[in-house]
Amino acid sequence: MSNIKRIAVFTSGGDAPGMNAAVRAVVRTAEYHDLHIYGIERGYNGMINGNIKRLNKSDVANIMQKGGTVLRTARSEEFRTKEGRKIAYENLQAFDIDALVAIGGNGTYTGAKIFNEEYGIPIIGIPGTIDNDIYGTEYTIGFDTAINTAVEAVDRIRDTADSHNRLFFIEVMGRHSGYIALYTGIGSGATTIFLPEEDNAVDDLVSMLQQSKRRQKLFNLVIVAEGNKNGNAMEIAEHVKKELPDFDTKVTIIGHLQRGGSPSCQDRVLATRLGHSAVEALLAGKSNLALGLTNSKVNFTSFDDAINKVKVLNKELINMAEILAQ
Ligand code: F6P
Repeated sequence: MSNIKRIAVFTSGGDAPGMNAAVRAVVRTAEYHDLHIYGIERGYNGMINGNIKRLNKSDVANIMQKGGTVLRTARSEEFRTKEGRKIAYENLQAFDIDALVAIGGNGTYTGAKIFNEEYGIPIIGIPGTIDNDIYGTEYTIGFDTAINTAVEAVDRIRDTADSHNRLFFIEVMGRHSGYIALYTGIGSGATTIFLPEEDNAVDDLVSMLQQSKRRQKLFNLVIVAEGNKNGNAMEIAEHVKKELPDFDTKVTIIGHLQRGGSPSCQDRVLATRLGHSAVEALLAGKSNLALGLTNSKVNFTSFDDAINKVKVLNKELINMAEILAQ
């Protein structure tokens, strides 16, 4: 057991639906154990600027269903510097904070790991990012909501694509990871999915579309991850337009629509379990670990592995999507 008495929680990096449910679970579990709990606003930036406030049970009432993060978030450049981290640590000391719960993605974990190495403060990480690209957990908080939002958007595009016999390129988020694109593509029965992890040739798509025309397929939906190797949706569409000028081609970038909105029940439950476990883990003396869920069980991964190991896209899903799309 540890001597932890005061915990602070913060959200950092891109916001993700469900972060609020995690914050609520952290606060309420901490109060259950008679700990003092603090919220840091705007992630590492707030730590540096001293935006730290005491939270209690009622501060986290009515936030479960809200998108975004009530603690706000930021991608902090200052925390990348030794000086920034020193100020952050001094601010935590001023509040006698002796442990942290960090909710975010890879950048958040990297900051947490360095901070722990420099100042020894115990930190537990919770994976909050719509990208689902964190090693050590099957799903990250926000992913389920984001793919449901994206599939709903594609369904709407499908209606108009069908009515006009059009070819649509739809770009979804995912700088380095194709999880959102893969699940959106499968969930919406797309013709093809362009993933950052794969080297899809645009010319293969062109021949596929030519065949689809011969088969009198009336419309096509192509999902493109923003980090795709062979260009973004706009660039691929331009290439295809040159080869197939007869196709009525349109591009939609779903963009930040995927990041907002009320979290799905799946994300709320995941976030609640991980928020609760984070406090229990700190009290059990654990530190420098990222939480996750694998086979429906909460598990821990070292920050080192969570940061450096790559969560590989399920090849079976990719192959299946290729067989089913046509
Ligand atoms: O990491 C989550 C994410 O939504 C990525 O999918 C996307 O590339 C990035 O954040 C966008 O970040 P920002 O909102 O800072 O432009």
